[in-house]
Amino acid sequence: MGHEYRSGLGWDSHRIAVGRPLLLGGVLVESEFGLDGHSDADILLHAITDALLGALALGDIGMHFPDTDPRWKGAESMQFLLHALGLVKEKGYEVVNLDTTVILERPKLKDYRVRIREHIASQMGLHVDVVSVKFKTAEKVGPVGEGKSAEAQAIVMLRRHQS
Ligand code: C5P
Ligand code: MG
Repeated sequence: MGHEYRSGLGWDSHRIAVGRPLLLGGVLVESEFGLDGHSDADILLHAITDALLGALALGDIGMHFPDTDPRWKGAESMQFLLHALGLVKEKGYEVVNLDTTVILERPKLKDYRVRIREHIASQMGLHVDVVSVKFKTAEKVGPVGEGKSAEAQAIVMLRRHQS
């Protein structure tokens, strides 16, 4: 791991389900439906976790937290992200910035942007300026556009820790 900078990419998708909470970046969003999943189904945190693991070439979230393991049933996804962040530090790196997109037809999410950015930043020990969260619809096309699922994307830049 001799490089100064490393980038990582993450993506996730979960099925929309009535009677489940809609958690995005650890923030509960007011909604008539939520997302199905073994854990709390926080697609945004799953995408960021995969981006961190990807930057380190340490596999993916399912390898570290298998969804067949009863320990992770209903698990708070922030613990997955913080585990990946621990690996970043262990390998001698720090996060420069992260950029994300959540793709969900409804509800409108823009009023949650500041809260989600601040929550992720404080949990990760980052300045809010380096945590970007964007929202898109899928223009009513495909499974996301038809309201069957939601997706999230994340990209992260790591820099060798300056000591
Ligand atoms: O997908 P579209 O380009 O139509 O989204 C327009 C804007 O609506 C986005 O830039 C975003 O700020 C906002 N948006 C939102 N909640 C969503 C999807 C989009 O607030 N679920
Ligand atoms: Mg997931």
